[in-house]
Amino acid sequence: MTTIIPLAEIDPALVEDLLDAAFGKQRTERTAYKVREGTDMLEGLSLAAVNMAENILLGSLQCWPAALTDDAGKKHPMIMVGPVAVHPECQRQGIGQALLTALIKELHEDESLPLVMIGDPAYYDRFFDFSPERTGGWTLPGPWDPERLLVRAPKNVVLPEKGKLGPWKANKAA
Ligand SMILES: CC(C)(COP(=O)(O)OP(=O)(O)OC[C@H]1O[C@@H](n2cnc3c(N)ncnc32)[C@H](O)[C@@H]1OP(=O)(O)O)[C@@H](O)C(=O)NCCC(=O)NCCS
Repeated sequence: MTTIIPLAEIDPALVEDLLDAAFGKQRTERTAYKVREGTDMLEGLSLAAVNMAENILLGSLQCWPAALTDDAGKKHPMIMVGPVAVHPECQRQGIGQALLTALIKELHEDESLPLVMIGDPAYYDRFFDFSPERTGGWTLPGPWDPERLLVRAPKNVVLPEKGKLGPWKANKAA
């Protein structure tokens, strides 16, 4: 039985162990880590999937403040989703979908900032409408596969065609 709770309630060391198990130790070299460098996790939107009866962490989903800087230098804030991780022994049991469904429920569809992520479109597009269609002109602070740079935003939301995705540190001192 899976319960979704705030990730902030979980010991951060357990989350690191889960991420190592799902993505391997080299995970921190991924470009996604550079997009969120220097920012603080959005606690209200970061979730854990747990088996309460056995007190086991099954999965986690983190969100971060990111921004797309357009050619004119204007920053367009977005929510960077990821990593989404399910423990290898518990994958394909609906836990990833439960985490993303809970996140999307938490957001007001019409008012939410665009959600951006680097992930498998075969999963995130199929179940949650994350698509690479509108990210073709975007760049990242490291190597990336354009097919895996995904955004989820209502069709009527205008997204810059070109821009550089990076951390959003508007509230931090320079
Ligand atoms: C990707 C991940 C979050 C999915 O969560 P999950 O709980 O295992 O998957 P769910 O149970 O919600 O969904 C299962 C369905 O998604 C499909 N699926 C799972 N991972 C997939 C992937 N990476 N690509 C395509 N389809 C995938 C399964 O085949 C299954 O489809 P089916 O119902 O038709 O059989 C999880 O497997 C994970 O943490 N993987 C390790 C990290 C990783 O490889 N991430 C790659 C994407 S960034």
